[in-house]
Amino acid sequence: MDDNLAALREQAAAAIDAASNVDALKDVYTSLFGQRGRLTHLLRAIGQRPAAERRERGAELNRIKEEIAQAITQRHTVLEAAAWDAEIAERIDVTLPPRPSPSGLIHPISRTIAEIEAIFGALGFSVAEGPEIEDDWRNFGALNIPEHHPARQDMDTFYLPGRRDGRRRVLRTHTSPGQIRTMTSRPPPYRVIVPGRTYRADHDATHSPMFHQVEGLAVDRAITLGHLKGCLIDFLRAFFDKPLLPVRFRASYFPFTEPSMEVDIGWNRQTGEIGAESDWLEILGSGMVHPRVLANCGVDPREWQGFAFGMGIERVTMLKHGITDLRPFFESDLRWLRHYGFSPLRPPILHEGLGG
Ligand code: PHE
Repeated sequence: MDDNLAALREQAAAAIDAASNVDALKDVYTSLFGQRGRLTHLLRAIGQRPAAERRERGAELNRIKEEIAQAITQRHTVLEAAAWDAEIAERIDVTLPPRPSPSGLIHPISRTIAEIEAIFGALGFSVAEGPEIEDDWRNFGALNIPEHHPARQDMDTFYLPGRRDGRRRVLRTHTSPGQIRTMTSRPPPYRVIVPGRTYRADHDATHSPMFHQVEGLAVDRAITLGHLKGCLIDFLRAFFDKPLLPVRFRASYFPFTEPSMEVDIGWNRQTGEIGAESDWLEILGSGMVHPRVLANCGVDPREWQGFAFGMGIERVTMLKHGITDLRPFFESDLRWLRHYGFSPLRPPILHEGLGG
């Protein structure tokens, strides 16, 4: 290698090392490989050499060229990583104390269930769950809904193919099978709520084929209609955070309760204000557990009696938070979820009130 080439090699290596950023490195590259670069010039000059030297000279130059190109690539990787680190360091101040920034939020339905559990928990109820795929005995028959009852129509109900223990399988149309499961699993007394998913063949702005209910069941030796009223009034006033919320009990009919009552709360139809005295809004179904339902579960109705209720969870969630359309509840639109979601760091705490 002649002195010229040895010097070029050394100088190039020094310049590459000295380049302190990507731009400086680019200048080094251009000074060597550019139109007027030193290496470009030397490669071009091979042609002017005597034919005998050309081959060797060419091979040597190419080796040096490869060597330098590799050094530039390596340096480029290092400089780029350093630039990236510097940029990140500028944006993230790692000395800042952590801020609570939860990566997820609690869905309003889950929040309402948690609030309901908090309130009924304070009233001495425990929480149970049942399967969403029920059999028609627990969903209908045991609840005193006979074969010909319209609630059983295939139109309203999602039946599944096949049978379990000889019974038709159905997506539960309400949480009331939770009553049956509770009463057939252990002896009374019972104080339990059963929140969960339910299904009906309905779909419009206020009905979704999948929705949520919460069932309540209280059975003891001397549970009366007074307990039912007291519990539900207390619950509704706590849930809506309105100590004077007007509550009305209206005679109704369910096959599994006798007597049965629909429960309404006072609100203003125009403004949606809850607690107003201008209009009534139906909010849940309730009644004294029908003696036949007790007997169907092996609970002696001469010894035990109690009340049950069932409430739609979407309905009360929409009312409480002024949500007017049911559909976005289940569309997973992040904008909606961020707007209506609840911080997981603030679970419902009764003594703080559940005003939300
Ligand atoms: N299961 C009834 C419904 O879905 C509600 C209800 C439950 C009524 C318990 C009375 C007692 O409409």
